[in-house]
Amino acid sequence: MAHFPRTRTFIHSLRPLRIEGDVLDLDITGEIPHEIDGIFHRVQPDAQFPPKYDDDQFFNGDGLITQFDIHKGRVNLKQRYALTDKLKAERKAGRALFGAYRNPLTDEESVQGMIRGTANTTPIVHAGKLFALKEDSPPLIMDAISMETEGYSDFNGKMRNQTFSAHPKIDPVTGNMCNFGYAATGLLTRDVSYMEVSPSGELLFETFFEVPYYCMMHDFSITADYAVFHLCPITSNWDRLKANKPHFGFDTTLPVYLAVLPRHGKAEDMRFFKAPKTVFASHVMNAYNEGTKIIFDIPQSAGNAFPFFPDIHDAPFDPVAARPYLHRWVVDMASPTDDFVSVERVSDLIGEFPRVDDRYIGQDYTHGWMLVMDPEMPYEGEGVRASGFRMNRIAHFNRKTGEEKTWYCGPQSLIQEPQFIPRSKDAAEGDGWLLALVDNQVTNYSDLVVLNALDVESGPIARVHLPFRTRNGLHGTWANRASLPA
Ligand SMILES: [Fe+2]
Repeated sequence: MAHFPRTRTFIHSLRPLRIEGDVLDLDITGEIPHEIDGIFHRVQPDAQFPPKYDDDQFFNGDGLITQFDIHKGRVNLKQRYALTDKLKAERKAGRALFGAYRNPLTDEESVQGMIRGTANTTPIVHAGKLFALKEDSPPLIMDAISMETEGYSDFNGKMRNQTFSAHPKIDPVTGNMCNFGYAATGLLTRDVSYMEVSPSGELLFETFFEVPYYCMMHDFSITADYAVFHLCPITSNWDRLKANKPHFGFDTTLPVYLAVLPRHGKAEDMRFFKAPKTVFASHVMNAYNEGTKIIFDIPQSAGNAFPFFPDIHDAPFDPVAARPYLHRWVVDMASPTDDFVSVERVSDLIGEFPRVDDRYIGQDYTHGWMLVMDPEMPYEGEGVRASGFRMNRIAHFNRKTGEEKTWYCGPQSLIQEPQFIPRSKDAAEGDGWLLALVDNQVTNYSDLVVLNALDVESGPIARVHLPFRTRNGLHGTWANRASLPA
């Protein structure tokens, strides 16, 4: 018998969903352009069983992946749990066996030593397979069409790292999936490895390095020549885990670094540039290099943006300092010092979940999109997102002209991370559409909306109506028909 706690992570818009199923030919208002042909996968953390701890947090939920298969203007939906080793064991037992987020000390004896991953952060197709990713574990491989889980991969024994981040970057030039893993040699270790996986799925190399302190290395970026890692002091230690405190805490006494590794170089070639002050930053919009100069675009907050990972010195959470604004960080590998060249705030919009035209990842680029919270606009729904932010606009940024355009989703709804789809393989940068889930918090239904990517202001050209409301999700990715198995 399931009794979910009536705590923050499980009420209002965060109440459990747990629906697996198929819907053929979803109801649509408007027309989906026929050039949109492929699959959009996105995921929501959604605990299958009531958690062992009532204060369980959002990032601990099992990955429930939604697949939108779009072809000739029609959309089929499929939703399945990523069948992790954890979920298989818990389904067998009929209850939760694993405890708190990233804390194996809270697990039952019977599951000690098992991979704890929940595959709840990013689903992405590479080499014809669906990689269901969570940063604390190896990649879980699923069939990209049927969504049947095949199991964890170590790339035929080649991957020595124990983890594979949920923010890989597919290099548009080489087609390689570039990724890293932190806590590479075990929980709380300072070891990290950088890897590239070929378009056919072969692990090409793995470069290990050490970071100055253990921290939540959630995202990174590539450029043509470098892999770039931002280190923010969302940190932990065994004392926190023994006391069953939240795994991570924010430590304002530690510096922020931008670590730069030549993609085909060695750890000893790395540089660790120190930021002028300690800030919070999570998802990268994009990065590129001009010779030895690295341009790194990222939403940055003055203070901790994760209320569920409290300040380790007990400073109260400050929701205003938590607001992220797009910044541009510049460092130079030729610099004689380890200082940043510059940090510049480039927008006054409160935004996160930045995306670009994926064909320009790691390249000089013009167009970016992001979810924006406009606190001035009315909201009629109950509850907020796990982060506390109320994302009610999608913004388009022209990074060359500075122009910003937004679309407001109305007082009843909140928006999930957008995904860009090009009009064609060779279309100009930004020429295409955005997909995004819009969750109506009042009627409890979600729409998958389609917007013109360079004209978001005009609002959706099509709305695909789901027969339920999706849960607060994390990331989604697009796979063109050509990249999918027949
Ligand atoms: Fe993320």
